[in-house]
Amino acid sequence: MMTHLRTGMMMGLVLTLSVLSTACQDPSPDKASLKYSEDLYDGCVQCHGENGEGNQNLGAPAIAGLERWYIKAQLRKFKKSQRGWHLDDMAGKRMQPMALALDTDEKVDLVAAYVASLPRTNPAPTLEGGNPETGKIYFATCVQCHGADARGNLDEFGPPLAGASDWYLLTQLQNFKAGVRGTHADDVTGAKMRPFSMTLANEQAMKDVIAYIATLSE
Ligand code: HEC
Ligand code: HEC
Repeated sequence: MMTHLRTGMMMGLVLTLSVLSTACQDPSPDKASLKYSEDLYDGCVQCHGENGEGNQNLGAPAIAGLERWYIKAQLRKFKKSQRGWHLDDMAGKRMQPMALALDTDEKVDLVAAYVASLPRTNPAPTLEGGNPETGKIYFATCVQCHGADARGNLDEFGPPLAGASDWYLLTQLQNFKAGVRGTHADDVTGAKMRPFSMTLANEQAMKDVIAYIATLSE
């Protein structure tokens, strides 16, 4: 079943790439490199799951269908210790060696393309007590970079938030606020995000905004 799903997705990717390459008059898609990108993803399955659905017990978020540019940017940050460097970032430290194992830009690019090609998995909610009505008011400050639909905004390097694991969003907001993420001197985009984590006064406010994001995830 899983294998079929993945084969189906890869065929989708082959199709997309062949349409693109026809449009660009490039040679036909390199099937070997598509197979290779799927093979690279085998190294991610134990934590992020066969379909990129994530695993809360391991602190590994759903990553399926994130934007390719964002996945690449994060893998590079982990590689350069701009993310996952902080002593309190235990989850980031589990991820960092996996990014380091992708030892060429080509591998980073190919695995990012594969992850981006997987359909979003919209994990079931795990948090309780968030008020989406209040969260909607907070979310007004997030729209500029994450989009009114929370699908992200490349112009501001804001990733999509809709369809994410809710527990992961909470951890990241706490990480930004505590300076565990977004404080490395070379982490320019993390520094853009950090002040906005501070607009959320406490965990309840974070849960409220996450509850609102969940309403955009269907
Ligand atoms: C040993 C477990 C493990 C493996 C294997 C692993 N990851 Fe991760 N990954 C994590 C954890 C844990 C996090 C969350 C880090 C955090 O909380 O900041 C993460 C985070 C990420 C993120 C950041 C998501 C976001 O929204 O910012 C990306 C992208 C990612 N992983 C991609 C990959 C890819 C691609 C592979 C395979 C090459 C991989 N991971 C292999 C554990 C793993
Ligand atoms: C000025 C632009 C900007 C605003 C406004 C902003 N963000 Fe962000 N946000 C970003 C950027 C850029 C990143 C990616 C940081 C990185 O590259 O590591 C990010 C990352 C995040 C992440 C981590 C996502 C992941 O997959 O790891 C969360 C959660 C988040 N933002 C929530 C919010 C919320 C909630 C608000 C409003 C209260 C908000 N952001 C406002 C720019 C912004």
